[in-house]
Amino acid sequence: MRDTNNILVTGGAGYIGSHACKALAAAGYEPVTYDNFVYGHEGAVRWGPAVKGELCDRPRLDQVFEEFRPKAVMHFAAFSLVGESVSDPGKYYRNNVLGSLTLFEAMRDHGVDNLVFSSTCATYGEPQALPISDDHPQNPVNPYGASKFMVERIARDFGKAHGLRSIFLRYFNAAGADPDCESGEDHDPETHLIPLVLEVAAGKRPHIAIFGTDYDTPDGTCLRDYIHVSDLADAHVLALKALEDGAQTMAFNLGNGRAYSVREVIETARAVTGRPIPAVEQPRRPGDPAKLVADAAKAQKELGWVPKMDDLSVMIETAWKWLLKTQ
Ligand SMILES: NC(=O)c1ccc[n+]([C@@H]2O[C@H](COP(=O)([O-])OP(=O)(O)OC[C@H]3O[C@@H](n4cnc5c(N)ncnc54)[C@H](O)[C@@H]3O)[C@@H](O)[C@H]2O)c1
Repeated sequence: MRDTNNILVTGGAGYIGSHACKALAAAGYEPVTYDNFVYGHEGAVRWGPAVKGELCDRPRLDQVFEEFRPKAVMHFAAFSLVGESVSDPGKYYRNNVLGSLTLFEAMRDHGVDNLVFSSTCATYGEPQALPISDDHPQNPVNPYGASKFMVERIARDFGKAHGLRSIFLRYFNAAGADPDCESGEDHDPETHLIPLVLEVAAGKRPHIAIFGTDYDTPDGTCLRDYIHVSDLADAHVLALKALEDGAQTMAFNLGNGRAYSVREVIETARAVTGRPIPAVEQPRRPGDPAKLVADAAKAQKELGWVPKMDDLSVMIETAWKWLLKTQ
């Protein structure tokens, strides 16, 4: 039994990791952020200490495990730009796969055997059935998704060999910001639809591009399942508690089970912000499935997870407040 309540949060200075730190602190844990600040922000680390470090830096990880004696790890740190992963796969396999392997070896050697891992619906690839259940075949179609799939596999193998117990949380599209406006999305470059649409509303971009208007969907644009970042954060705390209660390695989808089209997102953002949001229709991008929607019933049943902010307007409202506060 560990004598601390410390949880090592890799990528805790990033978008989802910082919200998880807030949720951890609210649940009585001490989140210790480990981040290289390549994409994260020092100002986002507000609920516990920050350590600057690289996933692949084993001596640095050893220092941190010795100093903080964490009882579990939440592993968010990764690169996650799908397009870049296609043009520069080595960067993704090195950071996401080698980085995770280095972390898992450090966990093994320091006797830490509980892991909550940020996985993704991108591990499924082109859906064969909708909604996508947690046991849908995993056949990633880009190096980003493949890197996350490989990390799941490594964690499972470490489970068999060394007793690591992991919960893989496969998120759909994270959205929104902390309702108290203490944290939010701040990616550079930004590739996610909602912050891009809101940047148009704020006058920072001239228009939003709609990639593909001829999909076999009700309004011709792609459909995605958005999940509020604070609901994601809650699921991480529940996953951690499940591991503490002895849960074995398993995977859960995190989504709302409701898909919104690109046009619905833009319309909702127009209503929430009261600003004009010019849209420009463009051809489809390669590799964008028409519809991605989660079956997250298992997380609700087995973790007791109940998403509270499942309304798209609430996600957009919280993101808009954050943008207005930080612009
Ligand atoms: N945002 C989404 O919709 C979404 C969906 C599915 C999965 N995910 C996964 O969730 C996790 C968090 O996503 P996010 O949107 O918060 O991303 P983010 O870029 O905001 O956060 C990632 C953090 O990890 C840090 N980091 C990256 N590589 C590192 C390394 N080698 N060493 C130390 N720190 C490193 C970055 O500096 C950043 O602070 C990622 O693993 C991502 O793949 C995100």
